[in-house]
Amino acid sequence: MRLQGKCALITGAARGIGFDFARAYIAEGATVTLSDVNAAALQRAVAELGPQARAQVIDVTDQASINAGFAAAIADMGRLDILINNAALFDAAPVVEITRASYDTLFAVNVAGTLFCLQAAARHMIAQGSGKIINMASQAGRRGEGLVAVYCASKAAVISLTQSAGLDLIKHGINVNAIAPGVVDGAHWDGVDAKFAHYEHRPPGEKKRLVGAAVPSGRMATPQDLTGMAIFLATPEADYIVAQCYGVDGGNWMA
Ligand SMILES: NC(=O)c1ccc[n+]([C@@H]2O[C@H](COP(=O)([O-])OP(=O)(O)OC[C@H]3O[C@@H](n4cnc5c(N)ncnc54)[C@H](O)[C@@H]3O)[C@@H](O)[C@H]2O)c1
Repeated sequence: MRLQGKCALITGAARGIGFDFARAYIAEGATVTLSDVNAAALQRAVAELGPQARAQVIDVTDQASINAGFAAAIADMGRLDILINNAALFDAAPVVEITRASYDTLFAVNVAGTLFCLQAAARHMIAQGSGKIINMASQAGRRGEGLVAVYCASKAAVISLTQSAGLDLIKHGINVNAIAPGVVDGAHWDGVDAKFAHYEHRPPGEKKRLVGAAVPSGRMATPQDLTGMAIFLATPEADYIVAQCYGVDGGNWMA
């Protein structure tokens, strides 16, 4: 029960990694507001997790939605100790085919969404005098990829925001750090596989199989492979950890 009595908000938590983080936090004693732009999926997710789970529809690209959603979540839970900035979108295309719409959408969710949710949480945490903010980066933010320029750039921006916000907010007792997963199985990667199938003329599922086999640990991650780091970064044991980005990737980036 390492998070007993703590109150957390996780963006993009209706499915995938965010949902499993919510489940793991609840198992450690936390109350968790799951938020997502997909209201129907959010209701289903929260119903699975029991009374320590709350639902708050928040579109991280919409400032009014962030303001109202954070205010409602904090009023409901009574405080906010932990934010996980998890909502993100993926896209892939050769550089010459990247559209402005794709760029604007990914940066609105992955970068501006991260920054302004972080800001909403930090304003509350400064008054409280403590807090933990965890941003979901990616190995994609540590290096480029031919077909993935915009997503990679957006995750590099998440790592940079983690560094600047981490340095700015630690004087208020707020730790800002990031997790950089490698390849995590789930609906997200099914979408990634479909993009690669299109651009690399592969049968569906082949890219996913090859990518999993190439991970030094021998397989793709499951969301459960990441929950230990997400819990640790939210505990007092991480009080002296500031502005860092931790790879949890089975050795993938190092290889
Ligand atoms: N799956 C991977 O292989 C992988 C690898 C590295 C990093 N990551 C990162 O981990 C995080 C979670 O990934 P995942 O695989 O669970 O993704 P996912 O696509 O399964 O879940 C993302 C969630 O974000 C929500 N979302 C999208 N736009 C939103 C918006 N405007 N406002 C609020 N919510 C919105 C979606 O509805 C969805 O529920 C993301 O930040 C992703 O970039 C994932």
